[in-house]
Amino acid sequence: MKIIHQLKEMQRDTALHRSEGKSVGLIPTMGALHEGHLSLIRAARQENDRVVVSIFVNPTQFGANEDFDLYPRNLVTDAKLAEESGADVIFNPSAKDMYPSDLCTSITMGSIAEGLCGRYRPGHFDGVAIVVNKLFNLVNPHRAYFGQKDAQQVQVIRKMAEDLNMGVEIVACPIIREADGLAMSSRNVYLKPEERISARLLSQALREGQEWVKKDLQDPEVLREKLRQILESDPAIQVQYIEIVHPESLHPLKNLEKPILIALAVFIGSTRLIDNIIIT
Ligand code: PAJ
Repeated sequence: MKIIHQLKEMQRDTALHRSEGKSVGLIPTMGALHEGHLSLIRAARQENDRVVVSIFVNPTQFGANEDFDLYPRNLVTDAKLAEESGADVIFNPSAKDMYPSDLCTSITMGSIAEGLCGRYRPGHFDGVAIVVNKLFNLVNPHRAYFGQKDAQQVQVIRKMAEDLNMGVEIVACPIIREADGLAMSSRNVYLKPEERISARLLSQALREGQEWVKKDLQDPEVLREKLRQILESDPAIQVQYIEIVHPESLHPLKNLEKPILIALAVFIGSTRLIDNIIIT
């Protein structure tokens, strides 16, 4: 496995493989790789000749009060995990190269980025969009793999790729969870032991929500209240949002007709966690 830091070298690497008729899959990550990321690498391995994993903690998607400085970074461990899962290349550019001081282009995502996390993280999806756009231009993949864990991110990227005719196939992969249901996340390491126990309630609430839909509950507001009660039964949990929306448009649903995306964000202590379920 190769580790590439230079932008031009990354472009040359794909150009060579494309010229040989090989397909290229990209998995964009911010590192601190866990089974969630590795599942994306394995999926890409099955479908592409060359698998590129980018590792870049992207400053433009962090808000001023967010955890950019604290975000876990460990290239050596990540490289080993990525290689074992089938990566051919780790692309690890520097922030200086990705965002030179004279950079003057920006991307503004419209309505798709307004609800859910977008409401509470202004500018976050614009930061995701520009970095993913740059990664697509640098890696030039045929396919790019994203986790359904970040349900809104998948739709933002799909919309950008479609709107800007990028010609990259966007593949969404299922959420990988710990044994007790907690969705894997690089941020789970921030949780204190008692907070880690409280965090089980997120997936429990979503599963309960799914049961209510199966039992033919119709009113999204009633469902939202039920989920809020489950989450707030634990005083350690502060709900940021519980949204019941269409999984693609992300528009709020007026009644519980499938397909349904239930997405939520909470704080446990100072750690922000998100989770979601799609009911089809
Ligand atoms: P990061 O949080 O490192 O996640 C990289 C990819 O792994 C994303 O597509 C995310 O949805 C996926 N992922 C994370 N946890 C997962 C889980 N438990 N199950 C399945 N997939 C999971 O998302 C980002 O980085 C950044 O915003 C990025 C797209 C790299 C742009 O900077």
